[in-house]
Amino acid sequence: MIPRLYSSRFVLRQPEMGDAEDIARYLNDFDVAGNLARVPFPYRLSDARAWLRTRTPNLPVGETNFTIELPGEGFAGHVGFHRGPKGPIFGYWLGRPFWNRGIMTEAATASLDWFFATTNAPVIYSGVFYFNAASLAVQHKLGFTETGRSSLLCLARGAEVEHIDTELTQSVWKARTP
Ligand SMILES: CC(C)(COP(=O)(O)OP(=O)(O)OC[C@H]1O[C@@H](n2cnc3c(N)ncnc32)[C@H](O)[C@@H]1OP(=O)(O)O)[C@@H](O)C(=O)NCCC(=O)NCCS
Repeated sequence: MIPRLYSSRFVLRQPEMGDAEDIARYLNDFDVAGNLARVPFPYRLSDARAWLRTRTPNLPVGETNFTIELPGEGFAGHVGFHRGPKGPIFGYWLGRPFWNRGIMTEAATASLDWFFATTNAPVIYSGVFYFNAASLAVQHKLGFTETGRSSLLCLARGAEVEHIDTELTQSVWKARTP
């Protein structure tokens, strides 16, 4: 079962079919989808429903996604983990109304705390497309370090895009001062 994680301003919970309309509305925004690797554009309600059908409650920790829900405002976005070629990958997005309020730094912190407490993974991988300064700022605040550059398919752009590769080790995470 995916736990509910509580942060000072919101809850992280299991994605539900009732999130589909919000997911479709917020991901059908090129400034969101175009910063993500695996999200098509335009993004339709059927895409959200198909993805939600894959979010069964018994997925391994490294394939868990959390819905970020704010009291009074509802669905805000997702933070989560999926399998990559080298190991677990960390990813996240927020609908545009929720940007620049410190929400992702807080949601990422709660989910990484859970991830490193629940697995023995020595490292988690992430990164940003080269133009995504806000996301890179979030990752630097969390302790991710840049490890190189690669080329990654961006479905929304229908093209390979230069990607800044990053990683965060369990030892760096556990040594950080909250
Ligand atoms: C990237 C994203 C998740 C950031 O979420 P957020 O809640 O706005 O992030 P936070 O408010 O916690 O932190 C954002 C940081 O980026 C900084 N920032 C914002 N815009 C910036 C820009 N254009 N250049 C440099 N830094 C920027 C902010 O100042 C803040 O840093 P600070 O706390 O040191 O001031 C959100 O913008 C988003 O969902 N974007 C679209 C999808 C996406 O890019 N997902 C990530 C893919 S790798």
